[in-house]
Amino acid sequence: MNENPETLKTIEMVPIGYVENDYLEPVYNEEVYNKISKIVLKEEFMDGLYRIEDFEKLYILFYFSKSKGYELIHRRRYDGKISGVFASRSPHRPNGIGLTVVELLKVEDKVLHVKGLDAINGTPVLDIKPYIKETEEES
Ligand SMILES: C[S@@+](CC[C@H](N)C(=O)[O-])C[C@H]1O[C@@H](n2cnc3c(N)ncnc32)[C@H](O)[C@@H]1O
Repeated sequence: MNENPETLKTIEMVPIGYVENDYLEPVYNEEVYNKISKIVLKEEFMDGLYRIEDFEKLYILFYFSKSKGYELIHRRRYDGKISGVFASRSPHRPNGIGLTVVELLKVEDKVLHVKGLDAINGTPVLDIKPYIKETEEES
């Protein structure tokens, strides 16, 4: 067990940017996976996009900014089964982190045009990573 205070301390994060799209409020709608969104990066992180066009798909990590509270046990949407929050993709979770694989369409300065992002307009973006098919399927 490694439950020292350093391991369990509060972590502070600063968004690297935000989402721009037509979804103003959370909706459960499969159509969102065909929609195009923009991810607008803060100027100071722009250089971090160097060579991002090398990848067709990206992981977008974001913050469920409009979610209030969570339940550790709930009925998950995926199959309607009662499950723990960590066995679901619920937007109501202890640390409110969303993770979606998107298709990268275009990069314009500090703006990424992506398809398939299920985050609503104004959602804070925490991180972006390339989705590397070979690596994902190796493990
Ligand atoms: C089931 S979650 C899945 C998100 C991501 N693919 C994941 O697995 O972490 C998708 C839901 O989150 C909602 N959502 C998107 N952005 C949000 C935000 N900023 N605050 C709260 N809910 C949000 C969407 O409207 C949608 O209903």
